[in-house]
Amino acid sequence: MTLTMTDQSSFPIGPRVIVALDLASADAALEMARRLDPRRCRVKVGKELFTTGGPLLVTRLRAMGFEVFVDLKFHDIPNTVAAACRAAASDGAWMLDVHASGGRRMMEAAREALAPFSQRPLLVAVTVLTSMDARDLAEVGVPADPEAQVLRLALLARDSGMDGVVCSPREARLLREHCGPGFVLVTPGVRPPTAAADDQSRIATPAEAVAAGAHYLVIGRPITQAADPVAALSSIIEQTGG
Ligand code: C5P
Repeated sequence: MTLTMTDQSSFPIGPRVIVALDLASADAALEMARRLDPRRCRVKVGKELFTTGGPLLVTRLRAMGFEVFVDLKFHDIPNTVAAACRAAASDGAWMLDVHASGGRRMMEAAREALAPFSQRPLLVAVTVLTSMDARDLAEVGVPADPEAQVLRLALLARDSGMDGVVCSPREARLLREHCGPGFVLVTPGVRPPTAAADDQSRIATPAEAVAAGAHYLVIGRPITQAADPVAALSSIIEQTGG
């Protein structure tokens, strides 16, 4: 695979777009994957698809040449999260994620569990879910505004050995400034200028997300629900600068 470099750092990127395979069955996901080119994008398997398709689906996507983000957002006691991360790494995940709000010891345990793997997955942490606003945070006992809480958790994630975080593209610039150039930023909530927002509210275009410092863009429906997913992906790749 050809590796490219970001403007900000020497971090190897490869294809920036991660297609969220949010489809109802493993068969539907595999059918979509067959239309995509693993040299041009990666794919993401989330909770619904992993629950129905399991590790076998990850294996099959890998056999097609894809690098797979196993997006299961682990959040449990350190020992359990460490074991889950080890299992996902054994499945051949290219990237996996945990919740930063699980705390330092949980994230450190996750990182330690991956250390023995010669080609370990990238390990990123979810800060504040983009579906949550200040009121939701207050209800769970967090008086901070979402942006301050995202920064706090991102710095904790970095100090706990995470490779990066999942964040909204609107927060990418702030995190890039505070967390350094090599800290991986993965942004969902990306919409081409002409696409529907769907249920995403804090959105940015692909070009805006990259300009703000995102390494990887997670994009689902604008590609998977397009009349021509291949053309939609090509257009998005072009908007990210190739
Ligand atoms: O279809 P769409 O482009 O909105 O898909 C975005 C993907 O990113 C979905 O799989 C969603 O679960 C995921 N995601 C998100 N917001 C987060 C974390 C993950 O939209 N904060």
